Amino acid sequence: MNPYLARRAFAGRRLLVGVCGGVAAYKCAETVSLLVQAGAVVRVAMTPEATRFVSPLTFEALSGQPVASDLFGTQTSPGREGGEVHIALSDWPEAFLVMPATANFIAKLAHGLADEVVSTTVLATTAPLVLAPAMHNRMWEQPATMENVEALRRRGVVLAGPVEGHLASGDIGMGRLADQDEILRALRDALPGERDMADLHIVVTSGGTREPLDPVRYIGNRSSGLMGHSIAAAAEARGARVTLVTASAMTVPAGVEASRVDTAAAMSDAVKTAVETADVLVMAAAVADFRPRQVAPQKLRKTDITTDLALERTEDILASLAALGVGRRLVRVGFAAETHEVLANAQEKLVAKGLDLVVANDVSDPTIGIGATDNEVTIISRDGSRREVSRAPKEEVADEILSAALEALRAKGRSEKVS
Ligand SMILES: Cc1cc2nc3c(=O)[nH]c(=O)nc-3n(C[C@H](O)[C@H](O)[C@H](O)COP(=O)(O)O)c2cc1C
Repeated sequence: MNPYLARRAFAGRRLLVGVCGGVAAYKCAETVSLLVQAGAVVRVAMTPEATRFVSPLTFEALSGQPVASDLFGTQTSPGREGGEVHIALSDWPEAFLVMPATANFIAKLAHGLADEVVSTTVLATTAPLVLAPAMHNRMWEQPATMENVEALRRRGVVLAGPVEGHLASGDIGMGRLADQDEILRALRDALPGERDMADLHIVVTSGGTREPLDPVRYIGNRSSGLMGHSIAAAAEARGARVTLVTASAMTVPAGVEASRVDTAAAMSDAVKTAVETADVLVMAAAVADFRPRQVAPQKLRKTDITTDLALERTEDILASLAALGVGRRLVRVGFAAETHEVLANAQEKLVAKGLDLVVANDVSDPTIGIGATDNEVTIISRDGSRREVSRAPKEEVADEILSAALEALRAKGRSEKVS
C-alpha cells in the first residue's frame, strides 16, 4: 500500500493490535510502525507468550502508547483510568488486528476462552476483528485448526492469510504470515468507511507499449506506468473491482486483476475484453502510434537495418471502442500529454475521441508527467467544466481523476434515467 493510500485509510483511526507468541511477532513491529506513520493511533496488547518473542518496549516505542500485556495490570485507555484493562481496551478501537494469530489463540477464540489480555479483550469488544494467522503448515492443516477457523469465519471474523511459502522451520507450506499489504488491506476494509466505488468495474491501462523490430529491439516511450498503477490502486482502495491492462514492469497493486501486454495491438485486444463489463475506462498508458511494418523473426544485423524504417499506424484504441459502440454507460477517460497549447489540444482530443474526460498535462516540464513521480493536471469534462489539480504525487492526482470519473458516471446515470 503506497504511503498516500495508507494515510487515506488509517489517518486518525483508533487501531488495536494484538500480538501472539509466534515467530512472526517481529513482523508486527513493522506493521505498527507503518500504521503510526500513516497517522493512526495504535495501541498494542500482547499475550504473555508474545512477550517472549518481542519485548513490549519495542511496541511501546513504536506506538508511543503503553502496551498491555498483563490482564491483571493497570494499563487502561487515556481518559479512562482505573477499572479492568480488557474492558477499557475493548471499548476503544475502531478495528482490532491480531497478528500473528497462533493456532492456540485461534482455538481459544473459537471456543470463547479468555485467559490473557488479548483473548479477553477480543471477547469483550464489538470492534471488527481481523486475524493474520501464522504457524507451521501441519498446525494450520490440523482438522482442529481448520474447524476453529471455519467457526470464526462463520461469525464474521476476517482472516488475512495465511499464505503458502517458506516457514520458520525451513519447510515450505501453507501457514506463512500474509504479506503486509494483504493484512493492511483487510484491516482497511474492516474499518467503517465509505467505499464510493463499490460495485463498479474500473479498467485502467498503464505503461508504455513496445513495438518490436526484431526479438531484441523495439520502439518504445518513457512512460513508467506510475500514473496508471496509482489510479488502479486508488480505485481498489475505494472498493472498485479493477482490471489493469499494463505494459509496465511495475508490481501490480494488491487486489488488482492484471493483464500484462507489450504491444499496442495486444493492449487493444485486452481492453476490448475487459471493457465489456466496465463502468469506467481510464487510458493512462502511452500507446505507440506507429509500429515497424516488418518484424524480423531473428535478430537483425546492424547492416540489415535501414535508417528510413518503414512504419505503419497502430489501432487507436479509444476510437475503435467508439466504433464498436462499446458501453453506453461507460465513462471514457483519456490523457493528453502535450508540450504546447496544452488545454486547446486536450479539448480537441476529448471531442475527436468521444471522451467523457480528458486529463491534460504539460510534459514540456520534465519534473511532472511522463516518467516523473509528480503530476499537475487539468481535468476537462465533456460539458466544458475544468478541474485544476495542482502539483502533487501521482497517488493523490489519481484520486482526483477518479472523483471526476465518478461524477461523470453519476451524471450519465442521471441523463439515462431522463432519456
Ligand atoms: C520458537 C517457537 C515458535 C513458535 N511459533 C509459533 C507459530 O509461528 N505459530 C503458532 O501458532 N505457534 C507457535 N509456537 C507455539 C506457541 O508459542 C504456543 O502455542 C503458545 O502457547 C502460544 O501462546 P499465545 O497464543 O497465547 O500467544 C511457537 C513456539 C515456539 C517455542
